[in-house]
Formats: sequence, C-alpha cells, structure tokens
Amino acid sequence: MKKVSKAIKAFIAILKKPYLLNAVLNSEELLELEFQVLFPSANEKKQISFSTLFPLEKDVNVYPYSFLSGSSLATDFALLQLLCKKIEAEDYFEIGTWRGESVANVAPYVKNCFTLNLSDDVMLKKGLDKSYIQMHRFYSEGIKNVTHLFGDSKYYDYSGLNKKFDLIFIDGDHHTESVKSDTSMLFPFLKNEKSVIVWHDAKLDTETCRYEVLMGIYQGMPQETHKHIYLVENTLCAIYWPYDLAFSKLVKNTSPENTFDIQLRIKK
Ligand SMILES: C[S@@+](CC[C@H](N)C(=O)[O-])C[C@H]1O[C@@H](n2cnc3c(N)ncnc32)[C@H](O)[C@@H]1O
Repeated sequence: MKKVSKAIKAFIAILKKPYLLNAVLNSEELLELEFQVLFPSANEKKQISFSTLFPLEKDVNVYPYSFLSGSSLATDFALLQLLCKKIEAEDYFEIGTWRGESVANVAPYVKNCFTLNLSDDVMLKKGLDKSYIQMHRFYSEGIKNVTHLFGDSKYYDYSGLNKKFDLIFIDGDHHTESVKSDTSMLFPFLKNEKSVIVWHDAKLDTETCRYEVLMGIYQGMPQETHKHIYLVENTLCAIYWPYDLAFSKLVKNTSPENTFDIQLRIKK
C-alpha cells in the first residue's frame, strides 16, 4: 500500500477508535527515541555476563520451572539464585507472585521471602480470567519462609513491614509508570550498599531492549545510580549492581560469551 493511502487509512482508523493512538505513542520505536534523549548516557546499553558476575559458579539447579506461557527464562531464575548466594542475601522482596515460580526458586537460598501481588478479589473485579487467577501461588503456597502479601504495588505501605531487603525483584505491572513507581518506592528499602535490584522484562528477548520497562527503571532510580544499572546477558533482566563491573554492549548477533548445558528432569 502506498504511504499516502496508508496514512489516510490510519487516520480514519484513529478517528473511529481513538485508543489506537496509544499503540503508536507507546510503540517501542518511539520510546527508544524518547529514551535516547532523556538518558543519553544509558544508550551504550551496558550488559554484564554470568561469568563476570559469578566467576566461580558453574552449576545451578533451577527448580521449579514450568515451561509455561509467560514464564521467565531459566536463566532469569538462575540469576536470582546466584545473586542470593553471592551477596549472602537473607531478605528477599518481590513484586509479582503469579505462579510463585520466582519466589520458589529463591526461597532455598534466603531466610525470608516476601512476595506482593494484587489480591484474587481485585483481579476478579478487573475481569481477569478465573483460571489465570487460580494459578497464583501454585508453586509458593506452603513454602515456610515465603510470606504472601496482597495489594497494589503503587499504593502498598512498604514501611509497615519494618524490614529492608538484600535483593528486590520487580516483576509486576510492566507499564513505564508502574515500573517507575515500583522502583522509586522500593529503592529506599534496599538494606545496605551491597543490596541489589533486579527488574524482569527489561528486554523483549535476550538480545532486544524493552524501552517501556527501561524508561521506568531509569526514571525511578536516583540519577547517581544510573551508572550501575546493567542488562544481564542471556536473561530478560536488568540489574542495579552497586559496583563498577566489566561490561560489553548489547549488540545483536554477536558471539555468546557463555553457553549453557541444560539437563532436564521431569517431575510430576
Ligand atoms: C509477570 S507476573 C510475575 C511472575 C512471577 N514473578 C514468576 O516468576 O513466577 C506479574 C504479576 O504481577 C501482578 N501485578 C500486576 N500489577 C500489579 C500491581 N499493581 N500490584 C501488585 N501486583 C501486580 C499480576 O497479577 C501478575 O501475577
């Protein structure tokens, strides 16, 4: 279709359904341009590898792993586990429980886990599918050191927990405004100078940034921490790692720095 007729067709579609404008305004192409203007120093897309972060670690047992739709990558859970060991984390906090897969992966490596999610009632009122709601906490229910918290992360009273955290995993609502709000609200709850934040879905796939989420991360974190925000190779995660580390730049189609050997065990 010619450009002019395409433009007319798009204009008519937007007149009929104005919400379609959001698809344009929230497109990753536009967000990338906006991100480059707002955070020029982050444009080099600093990425760290497993072997840089964990030079001594070779084996990780990712369990449970559902291989179901919407699940994180096995490397995302491996990252969380290895971080817990490396920083000797005792207290873990996450936004976004869903099946409880991430928190169940972390639980064996820390003393206390807190996981916050919208309550089942609220999700029901939002019109979400019952079968989806029923899958919440599937893996985490009953794990002794996991506390399930219910509420909207935007309005949750985190100070009421009287706790600070070694590792915070942000994996709730991935819209920019929500990531920004979750990040700025939780940053003050990092326990000490070694404490870490991991954001999920900062990439669309392991080689492609997701600017919708990156924008929220950079907007939510204090300016002086920006130099220590990295993407993590082979995962969908970004990390606030409060030290300088050797990094490469995220460029598509480069040779992998690490290759993984996966053995599958099927459990019923
Ligand atoms: C991507 S899933 C989390 C996956 C989980 N971390 C895992 O690995 O198994 C996101 C979850 O965040 C929850 N969520 C979305 N918006 C939220 C909000 N504003 N407050 C709390 N939870 C929210 C959703 O109900 C959903 O269960």
